Amino acid sequence: MTERTYAMLKPDAVLGGHVGEIIARFERVGLTIERMELATVTPEQAAANYAEHEGKPFYEGLIEYITSGPVVKLVLAGEGAVAITRKLMGATNPAEALPGTIRGDFGLVMDANVIHGSDSLESAKREIAIFFA
Ligand code: RTP
Ligand code: MG
Repeated sequence: MTERTYAMLKPDAVLGGHVGEIIARFERVGLTIERMELATVTPEQAAANYAEHEGKPFYEGLIEYITSGPVVKLVLAGEGAVAITRKLMGATNPAEALPGTIRGDFGLVMDANVIHGSDSLESAKREIAIFFA
Protein backbone atom coordinates (compact mmCIF):
# COMPACT_ATOMS: atom_id res chain seq x y z
CA MET A 1 0.00 0.00 0.00
CA THR A 2 1.25 3.46 -0.83
CA GLU A 3 2.39 5.43 2.20
CA ARG A 4 3.37 9.04 2.65
CA THR A 5 6.15 10.23 4.91
CA TYR A 6 7.56 13.59 5.85
CA ALA A 7 11.29 14.23 5.45
CA MET A 8 13.25 17.40 5.99
CA LEU A 9 16.80 18.22 4.95
CA LYS A 10 18.15 20.17 7.92
CA PRO A 11 20.12 23.45 7.68
CA ASP A 12 23.52 21.70 7.63
CA ALA A 13 22.45 19.70 4.57
CA VAL A 14 21.23 22.79 2.71
CA LEU A 15 24.14 25.05 3.66
CA GLY A 16 26.59 22.24 2.93
CA GLY A 17 25.24 21.89 -0.61
CA HIS A 18 24.06 18.29 -0.26
CA VAL A 19 20.42 18.72 -1.31
CA GLY A 20 20.78 17.23 -4.78
CA GLU A 21 22.76 14.18 -3.67
CA ILE A 22 20.37 13.39 -0.82
CA ILE A 23 17.20 13.77 -2.88
CA ALA A 24 18.75 11.58 -5.59
CA ARG A 25 18.88 8.72 -3.07
CA PHE A 26 15.13 8.87 -2.49
CA GLU A 27 14.46 8.95 -6.23
CA ARG A 28 16.88 6.07 -6.78
CA VAL A 29 14.91 3.68 -4.54
CA GLY A 30 11.72 4.65 -6.32
CA LEU A 31 10.03 6.95 -3.84
CA THR A 32 7.95 9.70 -5.42
CA ILE A 33 8.50 13.33 -4.46
CA GLU A 34 4.95 14.64 -3.96
CA ARG A 35 5.79 17.95 -2.28
CA MET A 36 9.09 19.81 -2.04
CA GLU A 37 9.75 23.27 -0.68
CA LEU A 38 12.71 25.33 0.52
CA ALA A 39 11.65 27.17 3.67
CA THR A 40 12.62 28.36 7.12
CA VAL A 41 10.97 26.45 9.96
CA THR A 42 8.99 28.71 12.29
CA PRO A 43 9.37 28.36 16.07
CA GLU A 44 5.74 27.16 16.18
CA GLN A 45 6.37 24.42 13.61
CA ALA A 46 9.57 23.37 15.40
CA ALA A 47 7.80 23.11 18.77
CA ALA A 48 4.94 21.10 17.25
CA ASN A 49 7.27 18.74 15.40
CA TYR A 50 9.49 18.08 18.42
CA ALA A 51 6.81 18.20 21.15
CA GLU A 52 7.82 14.70 22.32
CA HIS A 53 11.27 16.05 23.28
CA GLU A 54 10.14 19.11 25.28
CA GLY A 55 11.98 19.30 28.59
CA LYS A 56 14.91 17.12 27.49
CA PRO A 57 18.40 18.61 27.84
CA PHE A 58 18.91 18.91 24.08
CA TYR A 59 15.46 20.44 23.34
CA GLU A 60 16.36 24.16 23.31
CA GLY A 61 19.39 23.57 21.11
CA LEU A 62 17.33 21.42 18.77
CA ILE A 63 14.68 24.13 18.29
CA GLU A 64 17.35 26.80 17.84
CA TYR A 65 19.15 24.67 15.28
CA ILE A 66 16.18 23.63 13.15
CA THR A 67 15.00 27.28 12.90
CA SER A 68 18.52 28.63 12.20
CA GLY A 69 18.52 28.41 8.40
CA PRO A 70 16.83 27.07 5.31
CA VAL A 71 15.51 23.52 5.18
CA VAL A 72 14.03 21.44 2.36
CA LYS A 73 10.61 20.03 3.27
CA LEU A 74 9.53 16.88 1.45
CA VAL A 75 6.56 14.57 1.19
CA LEU A 76 7.77 11.19 -0.09
CA ALA A 77 5.34 8.55 -1.28
CA GLY A 78 5.62 4.87 -2.06
CA GLU A 79 5.32 1.35 -0.69
CA GLY A 80 6.79 1.35 2.84
CA ALA A 81 7.88 4.99 2.52
CA VAL A 82 8.17 5.57 6.28
CA ALA A 83 10.51 2.66 7.01
CA ILE A 84 12.52 3.00 3.80
CA THR A 85 13.18 6.66 4.45
CA ARG A 86 14.34 5.89 8.01
CA LYS A 87 16.61 3.15 6.66
CA LEU A 88 18.20 5.48 4.12
CA MET A 89 18.71 8.11 6.87
CA GLY A 90 20.65 5.81 9.22
CA ALA A 91 21.11 6.05 12.98
CA THR A 92 20.26 9.33 14.75
CA ASN A 93 23.88 9.88 15.76
CA PRO A 94 26.06 10.28 12.64
CA ALA A 95 28.95 8.81 14.61
CA GLU A 96 26.98 5.55 14.73
CA ALA A 97 25.27 5.78 11.33
CA LEU A 98 26.75 3.33 8.83
CA PRO A 99 28.58 4.49 5.71
CA GLY A 100 26.10 4.46 2.84
CA THR A 101 23.38 6.05 4.94
CA ILE A 102 22.58 9.75 4.63
CA ARG A 103 23.67 10.58 8.17
CA GLY A 104 26.70 8.32 7.87
CA ASP A 105 27.82 9.97 4.66
CA PHE A 106 26.95 13.64 5.26
CA GLY A 107 26.94 14.10 9.04
CA LEU A 108 29.42 14.24 11.87
CA VAL A 109 27.59 15.15 15.08
CA MET A 110 24.22 14.51 16.72
CA ASP A 111 23.33 18.22 16.93
CA ALA A 112 23.46 18.65 13.14
CA ASN A 113 22.42 15.28 11.80
CA VAL A 114 21.46 16.24 8.25
CA ILE A 115 17.90 14.99 7.97
CA HIS A 116 14.63 14.41 9.76
CA GLY A 117 12.16 11.69 8.86
CA SER A 118 8.83 10.66 10.38
CA ASP A 119 9.16 7.64 12.68
CA SER A 120 5.66 6.18 12.04
CA LEU A 121 2.62 6.60 9.80
CA GLU A 122 0.88 8.53 12.59
CA SER A 123 3.85 10.89 12.94
CA ALA A 124 3.93 11.30 9.16
CA LYS A 125 0.30 12.43 9.01
CA ARG A 126 0.85 14.84 11.89
CA GLU A 127 4.09 16.26 10.47
CA ILE A 128 2.78 16.69 6.92
CA ALA A 129 -0.08 18.73 8.41
CA ILE A 130 2.41 20.84 10.40
CA PHE A 131 4.72 21.63 7.49
CA PHE A 132 2.31 21.68 4.56
CA ALA A 133 -0.69 23.30 6.23
P1 RTP B 1 14.56 13.19 13.81
O1 RTP B 1 13.31 13.26 14.70
O2 RTP B 1 15.26 14.52 13.68
O3 RTP B 1 14.25 12.55 12.50
O4 RTP B 1 15.62 12.24 14.49
P2 RTP B 1 15.38 10.83 15.16
O5 RTP B 1 13.92 10.43 15.08
O6 RTP B 1 16.37 9.89 14.58
O7 RTP B 1 15.77 11.13 16.65
P3 RTP B 1 14.88 11.72 17.84
O8 RTP B 1 15.07 10.82 19.01
O9 RTP B 1 13.48 12.00 17.38
O10 RTP B 1 15.62 13.09 18.18
C1 RTP B 1 15.30 14.27 17.47
C2 RTP B 1 16.56 15.07 17.24
O11 RTP B 1 17.05 15.57 18.48
C3 RTP B 1 18.47 15.56 18.49
N1 RTP B 1 18.92 14.76 19.60
N2 RTP B 1 19.94 15.07 20.35
N3 RTP B 1 21.96 15.08 22.34
C4 RTP B 1 21.07 14.10 22.32
O12 RTP B 1 21.07 13.20 23.11
C5 RTP B 1 20.05 14.12 21.27
N4 RTP B 1 19.10 13.23 21.12
C6 RTP B 1 18.38 13.62 20.05
C7 RTP B 1 18.93 14.99 17.17
O13 RTP B 1 19.28 16.07 16.32
C8 RTP B 1 17.70 14.26 16.65
O14 RTP B 1 17.65 14.26 15.25
MG1 MG C 1 12.34 11.71 15.69
